Amino acid sequence: MKFDIKAIRKDFPILEREVYGKRYIYFDNAATAFKPLQVLKAVEKIYTQFNGNPHRGAHYMSNQTTVEFEAVRDKVQQFINAPSREEIIFTKGTTESINLVAYSFSEAFIHEGDEVIVSEMEHHANIVPWQIVCERKKATIKVIPFDDSGRLMVEKLPELISEKTKIIAVTLVSNVLGAINPVEEVIAIAHEKNIPVLIDGAQAVQHIAIDVQKMDCDFFVFSGHKLYGPTGVGCLYGKRQWLDAMPPFLGGGEMIEKVSFSGTTFNVIPYKFEAGTPNFTEVIGLGAAIDYLNSIGFDKIFHYEQELADYARMKLDTIDGIRFFGQTSHQSNVISFIVNSIHPYDMGMFLDKMSFAVRTGHHCAEPVMDHFKIPGTVRVSLAFYNTRDEIDRFVDALKKVVAMLS
Ligand code: ALA
Repeated sequence: MKFDIKAIRKDFPILEREVYGKRYIYFDNAATAFKPLQVLKAVEKIYTQFNGNPHRGAHYMSNQTTVEFEAVRDKVQQFINAPSREEIIFTKGTTESINLVAYSFSEAFIHEGDEVIVSEMEHHANIVPWQIVCERKKATIKVIPFDDSGRLMVEKLPELISEKTKIIAVTLVSNVLGAINPVEEVIAIAHEKNIPVLIDGAQAVQHIAIDVQKMDCDFFVFSGHKLYGPTGVGCLYGKRQWLDAMPPFLGGGEMIEKVSFSGTTFNVIPYKFEAGTPNFTEVIGLGAAIDYLNSIGFDKIFHYEQELADYARMKLDTIDGIRFFGQTSHQSNVISFIVNSIHPYDMGMFLDKMSFAVRTGHHCAEPVMDHFKIPGTVRVSLAFYNTRDEIDRFVDALKKVVAMLS
């Protein structure tokens, strides 16, 4: 099937929205992506036709949502090529998925004096949960650095690993630098020492086809809202051997086998980690997003976005004084920059008033800012519904903003 950008854009009515009297151009897709009609309709269908609590009722509506909810587990399993559906856990997002692993894994496996390795380019969501765990367990964090091009210095990993290393957590794609990291190399080095690896896929899963078996990661996490699905839903894939050995994260309904005041036993995976009424509407919306992406084809999405990002970098490069952050040989659809010494917030504010949405600031990755000794960047993050025409307009506007602020 041809990649039909006109037809695709029609699926996203929000792209027609005008703000400040002009059609809004949205380049903040790494923060959250727009939702196609197919997702909106799936969510509406739940609220108008099947609002039953899954797994809990003998009635029609509960059964219907149970079937649809569990069908999404199969879709996610196929989407990331997980070995089994039981290894897919629904959470409320990447942050919760990482907190779940940090808490439950550390309860079982991290003790005083142990070590956790993360990278210097992690989002706060893949730093702070580990800091909390290390504080609680009296463990320490070690950091894989990146170089000034934004390349993860995987060659430094062997010297960071010790007998005490219990887990390594790294991102597949940096939300600031846009670098696509060679996580397979990280995993191979870690596995030589039987150390599990968590991969943060929050900025990857919408852009790159994921195969967790090929990657051989132990945990893989992502959010639905960056994948053109609803907010409030995310996934955790974990290898069964780890999930079975980890205690529950949250306690409540459905995560139990038997409850009594003399003691409670827990359900099997995935339910052991899904306490309380699940976010079934959002999960079903996520299923519709996956169907939608599959109907376009992930290869086509990847190639379109890569070409668009190359075009954007080439056009942006015509701006005098621009400095890019993240210039490795494998870059994604995220482009961070500053121009001369203009503060990114000022650029973002002016761009907004000209009807362009970009993210500015530290992007919840302050160590990246510290690395470059900058307060923040302007970040353009593209989606497959963006166009070259939008980039042309953006670069023209940015040139005006730079002239005004210089
Ligand atoms: N983590 C999201 C971002 O980088 C919110 O923009």
